[in-house]
Amino acid sequence: EKSGYDHYMLKEIHEQPSALRQCLRGRIDDLEGTVTLEDLDGLAHDGPVQFVACGTSYHAALVGAERLRRTGIPAQVFLASEYATDRVPVGADTLVVGVTQSGETADTLRALREAARAGATTLAVTNTVGSSAARECDHALYIRAGPEIGVAATKTFASQQLALDLLAAALGDGSDRAALKALRDIPGQVQTILETSDARAVAEAFVDADGYFFIGRGYHYPVALEGALKMKEITYRHAEGFAAGELKHGPLALVTENTPVFAVVTGDDEAARKTIGNVKEVEARDAPVVAITDGESDVTRYADHVLEIPAIDELSASVLANVQLQLVAYWVANQLGRSIDKPRNLAKSVTVE
Ligand code: M6R
Repeated sequence: EKSGYDHYMLKEIHEQPSALRQCLRGRIDDLEGTVTLEDLDGLAHDGPVQFVACGTSYHAALVGAERLRRTGIPAQVFLASEYATDRVPVGADTLVVGVTQSGETADTLRALREAARAGATTLAVTNTVGSSAARECDHALYIRAGPEIGVAATKTFASQQLALDLLAAALGDGSDRAALKALRDIPGQVQTILETSDARAVAEAFVDADGYFFIGRGYHYPVALEGALKMKEITYRHAEGFAAGELKHGPLALVTENTPVFAVVTGDDEAARKTIGNVKEVEARDAPVVAITDGESDVTRYADHVLEIPAIDELSASVLANVQLQLVAYWVANQLGRSIDKPRNLAKSVTVE
């Protein structure tokens, strides 16, 4: 069943290229430069969008909301468990998108029900046909990642991000052919990473670290959060993800020569240069630096280790960088002999609030 892999998690990490191809299948019209999402019949929306989600799906929603904002659609993200408490204003002009792999997460279902009661249109972005979220929402967008057995979400995170890219293209002006082509390139780029990654060696170098920090800006901030969540979940070690600029506002006090800092830096723009500034700050505290980068900037000069991702369009950066971090977490947990597919205290789908 595990097709020769020691764990479902590693198998599912390796299934990402085919999962992503499934997500794209039949949805992009190259000639027209348009995206058609069969499951979204009749959804024409130009009002605000709110995302509700938990855990890894929340991180995918952060990426998705940024995509929507770049196409001019106002989008906000809420932790599903905080949505009702926050008294978020929601009305008939709002589209509320629940991102949920299982479609059964109690917090997310509750938030979607509150939104529906307030008159919003609801959309489930899910992996599970026939799930509660898919049945209860007005619309469903299937991510088509195939069954995910490992408790740690891996391929579904990648597929959620791609599905949300498609949603952004469908709701916004979907006629940017270059952007659509970039989406088509993602599965092959993930394959390249899987074949060439040095993540195992990096994991082995830092298996005895006191803790792990992850930093990124913009699209890379959710990647940093997700990198840390995966590390905590399967290694039981302390890990935190930060917006790179926040490091100096407190967390820097935790940084030592025994806390590797994973910095996600792509391109060579202002955001990259600022993150490199943050990398220099941790380097000055003797922290080992692992750069996850396309090599466009000079971050490699300050890094002790480099995990490469192909030169990319920024749309794909979050998916690709995350694959390297999935592998690092996996190999640290593997070295520690953890119960990778069923980490202690956790369930695949959390059906209590
Ligand atoms: O099924 P969902 O996507 O709604 O699940 C949400 C979270 O429970 C889930 O993503 C969790 O954080 C993962 N196990 C993390 O790997």
